[in-house]
Formats: sequence, structure tokens, C-alpha cells
Amino acid sequence: MGQTTLSSLFTFLLIFSIFHNSRCQKQCGVSDDRRGGPSRVRAGFWFSQYSLHSPAPTIDTSLYTHLYYYSLSLDGANSGIAVPPDQVAVLCNFSGTVKSSNPALKTLLSVAADGRQTSFSAMAADAALRAAFIASTLELARENRFDGLDLAWEFPSSPADMANLGLLLEEWRARIGEEAAPSTLLLTITAYFSNHLFDGPTTDGPDYPTDAISRSLDWVNILCFGFHRNGNATANDAALFDRTSHFSASYGVTSWLDAGIPPCKLVMGVPLYGRSWFLKNKSKNEPGDPVVAEGPRQKMSNQSGVIAFLEIEGFLKDPGTKSVYDGRTATSYFQSGDLWVSYDSPQVVEGKVRFARRSGLLGYFLWPISFDDSNRTVSKRASGVWLGERESQGGGREEERFPEGGAPPLAAAGGGGAVSASAQRLSVTGCRVVLVCGLLCFLSGWLWV
Ligand SMILES: *[C@@H]1O[C@H](CO)[C@@H](O)[C@H](O)[C@H]1NC(C)=O
Ligand SMILES: *[C@@H]1O[C@H](CO)[C@@H](O)[C@H](O)[C@H]1NC(C)=O
Ligand SMILES: *[C@@H]1O[C@H](CO)[C@@H](O)[C@H](O)[C@H]1NC(C)=O
Ligand SMILES: *[C@@H]1O[C@H](CO)[C@@H](O)[C@H](O)[C@H]1NC(C)=O
Ligand SMILES: *[C@@H]1O[C@H](CO)[C@@H](O)[C@H](O)[C@H]1NC(C)=O
Repeated sequence: MGQTTLSSLFTFLLIFSIFHNSRCQKQCGVSDDRRGGPSRVRAGFWFSQYSLHSPAPTIDTSLYTHLYYYSLSLDGANSGIAVPPDQVAVLCNFSGTVKSSNPALKTLLSVAADGRQTSFSAMAADAALRAAFIASTLELARENRFDGLDLAWEFPSSPADMANLGLLLEEWRARIGEEAAPSTLLLTITAYFSNHLFDGPTTDGPDYPTDAISRSLDWVNILCFGFHRNGNATANDAALFDRTSHFSASYGVTSWLDAGIPPCKLVMGVPLYGRSWFLKNKSKNEPGDPVVAEGPRQKMSNQSGVIAFLEIEGFLKDPGTKSVYDGRTATSYFQSGDLWVSYDSPQVVEGKVRFARRSGLLGYFLWPISFDDSNRTVSKRASGVWLGERESQGGGREEERFPEGGAPPLAAAGGGGAVSASAQRLSVTGCRVVLVCGLLCFLSGWLWV
């Protein structure tokens, strides 16, 4: 009798674990290889607007697994993609050029909403426009030999936009599945750092449609920077940790995980630009001190308040300019005269990539890669850390590099990484299910015998 009961219990556990595993694998993209993508992502966004400064043939393609061509936008009728005449040749050459030096590299075409929010809302709200949009993106990707598509809608701002985004993604995935092609196109979105919008036009922003996202996408890129773009005070624009607010990369990662996106579908963004301001008083030069204006327009970005990493290095060459690193928030800043700049130093980037790795995320992306210096300092550091080629500095365990005080309560308590809260909850739930089912099985086996 005991034997029968035991064997029925074991049989059940075996079946359950096989079922459970296959579900997890489906969710976490073991199929990635079939889709032609490595299961781990070291992505870079290449901005076509900077193609003169940083043409595609100059990219060190060994540092990335995926390159995004950023970006194209909707045409005037809101139903297709417009390729500006001066981009036709660049677009057409891009995939072939970068793959010639790294055949394993995958390219994705990113469609952005820059300054066309209303058009995107209108397109997503209309079934016929959505279908035309989807058809147009597939055609463009195939014509120009891209391996995937991305939607960088910054940002859907109402519950209706979010619901329509969900519809668009489901229809897009279905259409990609119907294609009779040897390889399936990858589909991603580039989204707000958190699953819940905080600084949209309305005070209580909407949530992303996470079910549709999980079902339809290969992964989500989250923009873990630009937290204080309109600030009247100096601030860490891309902090990893922040105990005082929700504006941190670790908070964003945790919010997506808690909303149900599996870590293997999350790719964390790291900026290659800094945020600059003019200080009100040169002697008041810490985060939170008053400013009078955003920093000057820079040559690379052609925007005020935004400064490329390679331009930051120019300032730091001056021996009088000292960069300050804060391990509690994992941030860097420097002051030069009355200019104050928050930025991601190579040390910050290293910490962020370690955090992403430790949290079990699918990967990281750099934004934009054209802002790196000619030695590719940041891209190399990020790639080396991700691939485990760099030892943790100081020889200690990785966790020790983030003092506990630096992490907000939501994430990384004890330095375990953002995934801990959600993953633990998931595995605890899983264990309970096994336990309860096992118990039922045991009882039914006992009764039956
Ligand atoms: C595209 O590639 C062709 C052939 O390799 C080359 O002649 C042309 O100059 C390239 N155009 C651009 C814009 O890179
Ligand atoms: C600037 O800050 C310093 C140090 O807090 C202070 O002594 C000085 O009076 C301030 N200057 C002005 C013009 O407010
Ligand atoms: C910035 O503005 C907010 C309100 O908009 C205010 O509470 C805060 O004190 C201001 N900070 C500085 C440094 O002026
Ligand atoms: C920089 O931006 C201004 C408008 O903001 C534009 O007129 C100008 O053409 C841009 N310059 C370059 C080099 O893109
Ligand atoms: C690139 O590396 C070389 C050798 O390490 C160094 O001399 C040079 O200053 C670096 N250039 C930049 C832009 O960092």
C-alpha cells in the first residue's frame, strides 16, 4: 500500500515538474535560438540622426548581440512608416554593413513616436490603421533585411492608449506568425522605466498592458534614465538606487517584475549621455542644489542639457575637474565652473550591468552607442562585465559592492538584486502548489488503495 501511494506521489511530481518546466521554457524563450536570437542580450541603439558622426561601418559589432536602427516614424496618414529620402540608403545598407563584421548579430528596426504622440494614439485606436501600420513595418523590415521590429512609443499616456497598445502588439505578433518566412521576426518595445507611468500629462498615469506584452513580445527594453529632465535642481538623472523616490532603475525593474513580466523578458537601459545644468551658486554643488537653467546645447546631441559621454571625457581631461562617485545610489557627477553634470561613468555602468545580471534579466542596452568615445570605453566595459570577463573590483562578493543602505526597501534588500522579491514570491507559490497537489495526490492514492 505504502509503495503504491509513494509511487503515485512521485509520478505526480514528475508530471508536474515536466509540465512546469515546459511552461517556464515557453515563457522564457528557449525558442530564442530558433528565432535566430541568442538568449542573452547586449544591445545597442544606433541613432540614424548621428550617422554622419558615427557611420555604421565604424561600429565595433563584437560588443553587441543586437543593434537597433533608431528611428523611423509614422507617415502623414498615420498608417505606414515614412522613410525620409536622406535615410533610404543608410537604412538599406545598415544590416548588411554591421553583419559583415559579425554575422551572428541581429538587427531591429525601431519605430519611434518622437513628437507624434497624437498620430500614434490615433493609429493604435483604429483597427484598419493598425493593420496598415503592421503591414508597412513588416514590409520595411524584410526589404531592408532586418531581423526584428521595435516600437519606441514614449509614452502611451492614457488607459485607452495602453489598451490599444495591447491590441496592436497582439495583432503584430499574430501577423509575424503568419508570415511564410524561414526566420520569425523578433518583436520588442522600448518602454518607460516603470510599468506605471509617473510623470505623464496626468498625475496618476496608466499601467502598461503586461499580459499582452508577455504574450506578444520577445522582450521589453526599459528606459532607466531621464528621471529628472525638467528639474529645477541638480539630480541623479539615472540612479540605480534612490531611497527617497520611485525614480531609480532598481525601482523600475522591480515594478515590471511585480507586474508579471518574467526577468528573462526584461532588458535594462543604460545611458551614454549625461544631464547638465547651470548652478545657481558654484559653492552649492551637490545633488538637490538649485540651478538657474539647463546646460548649454552640445555639439553631439544638438540639445541643451544633454551631453554625450565622449564630451564628458573632454571636461574630465582638465585636472581641476573631479568626478564624484556615490556608491549608495550608483551615480557619478562632476562640476566644471558653474556647469554641473550627472552621468554614468564606466564604474556606474559596471554596477548597473552587474545588477542586471544578478537580477536574472535578459540583458542590457546602451543608448545611444554613438555617444561612446573612440575607444568604446563604455560599451567594452558593459560587455566585459556581462560576459563575466571582469572580476568584481576589490575581490569581494558582488553583493558587497552595493551597501545595503543604498538600496530602497523594494529592491535588493541585502543586495540580492531586484529579482529577489518577485522571483522568491513565484518560487514560493510554485512550491506551495507542488506541496498541496502532492498532498492531495498522496491522500487520493491512500484512499484508492
Ligand atoms: C551603401 O552601400 C553601397 C554599396 O556597398 C555604397 O556604394 C553606398 O555608398 C552606401 N551608401 C551609404 C549611404 O552608406
Ligand atoms: C553661495 O553658497 C555659499 C556656501 O553655502 C555661501 O557662503 C554664499 O553666500 C552663497 N553665495 C550666494 C551669492 O548666495
Ligand atoms: C523645485 O520645485 C519644487 C516645486 O515645483 C519645489 O518644491 C522645490 O523646492 C524646488 N527646488 C529648488 C531647489 O528650487
Ligand atoms: C540642431 O537643432 C536645430 C533646431 O533645434 C536645427 O535647426 C539644426 O539643424 C540642428 N543641427 C544639426 C546639426 O542637426
Ligand atoms: C584611448 O586609449 C588610448 C590608449 O589607452 C589612450 O591613449 C587614449 O587617450 C584613449 N582615447 C580616448 C578618447 O579615451
